Amino acid sequence: MSRLRVGVLVSGRGSNLQALIQASKDPLYPARVVVVCANRDCAALEIATKAGVTRQVFRLADFADRKRRDLAMARVLLQHGVELIVCAGYDAILERAFIRQFAGRVINIHPSLLPDFAGTMDAVEMALEARVSETGCTVHVVTNDVDQGPILAQSRVQVQPDDTVDTLRERIQAEEHVLLPAVVRRLAGQALPIPV
Ligand code: GRF
Repeated sequence: MSRLRVGVLVSGRGSNLQALIQASKDPLYPARVVVVCANRDCAALEIATKAGVTRQVFRLADFADRKRRDLAMARVLLQHGVELIVCAGYDAILERAFIRQFAGRVINIHPSLLPDFAGTMDAVEMALEARVSETGCTVHVVTNDVDQGPILAQSRVQVQPDDTVDTLRERIQAEEHVLLPAVVRRLAGQALPIPV
């Protein structure tokens, strides 16, 4: 079985990266993480190292501008034969030139039921402040409009009256760790790029 070659972009803790790596330990899982790219030093890189996955950091300070940084990252992804790119807690906006190169092959996981609380790193905080009764997470295709690309899947999470940002985030992330590997599995079984 040839498995879909996945590149993962990270900036933080890496629990979604971990979920994908864990899923791909099953030899029947139809995808595997072949390279991890970060825009800074972060815990996710340690997860890649432990799993024996190639990892590389693309610090903005090392490049003339964002475009050059993203195009350098694109080259590395292509060198690894990546067919699908997963933004898993990647906190920089991808340049248009990068998105054009991988149109329909970049997905993102966001901690809200999009289109609610789009375009923010504080979606969990905002859901609590807005006193919504449910929130959740969304996997969507990345386009030039931040958090507005076609939605691939969502999971709902009920907000409890005594929820704090931490408790709510924890339950949303537990859903993310199921949803993201499920979406990648589905995409591995269909033609890519996804039409956008
Ligand atoms: C996730 O909650 C994801 O929805 C958001 O960033 C967080 C990343 O968490 N985009 P982790 O680094 O995968 O633990």
